[in-house]
Amino acid sequence: MSDAVKVGFVPFSAVPRGTLVAFCDDGLRFGPATAKALGSAVDLVKRAAEAGQFKGKTGAALDILAPEGLNASRLIVIGAGKTSALKLNDFLKFGGVAAGKLKAGASAMTIMAELPDGAMTAEQTVAIGSGLRLRAYKFDRYKTKKKDGEEGGALRADVAFAVADLAAAKKAFAPAGHVVEGVIIARDLVNEPPNVLFPEEFARRASQLRKLGVKVEVLDVKAMQKLGMGALLGVGQGSARPSRTVIMRWDGAKKGEAPVAFVGKGVCFDTGGISIKPAGSMEDMKGDMGGAACVVGLMHALAARKAKVNAVGAIGLVENMPDGNAQRPGDIVTSMSGQTIEIINTDAEGRLVLADVLWYVAKRVKPKFMVDLATLTGAIMVALGTEHAGMFSNNDELAERLLTAGIESGEKVWRMPLGPEYDKLIDSQFADMKNTGGRHGGSITAAQFLQRFVDGTPWAHLDIAGTAMGAPKTDINQSWGSGYGVRLLDRLVADHYERK
Ligand code: BES
Ligand code: MN
Ligand code: ZN
Repeated sequence: MSDAVKVGFVPFSAVPRGTLVAFCDDGLRFGPATAKALGSAVDLVKRAAEAGQFKGKTGAALDILAPEGLNASRLIVIGAGKTSALKLNDFLKFGGVAAGKLKAGASAMTIMAELPDGAMTAEQTVAIGSGLRLRAYKFDRYKTKKKDGEEGGALRADVAFAVADLAAAKKAFAPAGHVVEGVIIARDLVNEPPNVLFPEEFARRASQLRKLGVKVEVLDVKAMQKLGMGALLGVGQGSARPSRTVIMRWDGAKKGEAPVAFVGKGVCFDTGGISIKPAGSMEDMKGDMGGAACVVGLMHALAARKAKVNAVGAIGLVENMPDGNAQRPGDIVTSMSGQTIEIINTDAEGRLVLADVLWYVAKRVKPKFMVDLATLTGAIMVALGTEHAGMFSNNDELAERLLTAGIESGEKVWRMPLGPEYDKLIDSQFADMKNTGGRHGGSITAAQFLQRFVDGTPWAHLDIAGTAMGAPKTDINQSWGSGYGVRLLDRLVADHYERK
């Protein structure tokens, strides 16, 4: 992990250092402070724009080296397109575009936080800073030959934002930075190799949230046996690494106020078990804990920015391995809820893990709502690709809020159906249910399975198999693990569940 973008703030009138970044709209117009900073270089921009067919479209960039008449050694003009249509996510992208222009090694940059129609808000300004840091992230912990300043080396930048209101920008910077840290924590966890990050080690890393005042409870195998978590324990029984469940609590609001809850699938490695997966791309299954990684990153973000909310994060950590003691197709396990499950396919393990953790949270925590995140099905990628996570919910208000938070944050969700006809497909001839529902509608029957363990609690399930890892690189993510969900759920909490 390299997170070496230093950010500071200066007034609009400051003389730019290093690279100057300025924003224009799709009419190549600049704001007054930017026009002043550019001075006679405005004409240069017009000519370069014409030569480079730069039209100021959102996220497009015009790069001018050694601009005549400017102190700056380089001028990057970033298009903001139609400025009335901009969402917060666009400002993150602007930061990503700017960071993408930096070369490895140290560079200085001054960013004019102004649109043609006036100064950016503090929130918009710091979103650019977040985009810069997210773009600069690189998981290089296991590369022994990295060197700063070389191709593939770490990016280091010293960025000054030229702003209208210094105090407001400085105030908004810290909380946004904590959300970025949360994303980076989630990315690191997803990127870590599975020989390093097994259930106990994952629990140890989650426990580091105690430093921020989060209460962390780790349930070992004995504790889970006592609770009757037979579904989760069945998945882990073929592994030499013992399973864990971790409950994290952040109390940032009134004592006694019902918390919001987030539940994550933490399959540290998914071989498929006895229903073993083919070898091709099996290494990707180190990321099958992307849901749990997101929950840890989110709890970090909420606690570090001292969010005025009571929040619980719960993650089920297992390794799904084939072994003499592994569970078999045909086995029947009893979940904590008392419902029995016939195992048809040991590779449909995520729902078994979540069944017990969802039930635990519904019964013990009694949250306002719970959102689970899971790299649950390959089928969700067939349906939605890598652009949207699949969302399933028993509550229209929660679903609507997630949809909106998705558009604002750029971590998009797409609602999928639930219904009794689908639910029937997981009835079993031997037990209360079976763990797979046949070839068709695989993401839906997986969600129906989960719904049998939420006990009526308002709930949404996000199938993040396509978005948590291996998605195409973007302006703000160049890493395999994306940290998907941290910004989405932080936004959800900030917009609806936090006392202002
Ligand atoms: N972890 C996988 C789903 C997955 C696949 C995530 C590819 C990311 C990339 C999950 O445990 C699984 O194996 N699901 C099966 C379910 C099937 C056996 C009903 C699947 O999707 O094939
Ligand atoms: Mn599986
Ligand atoms: Zn899995």
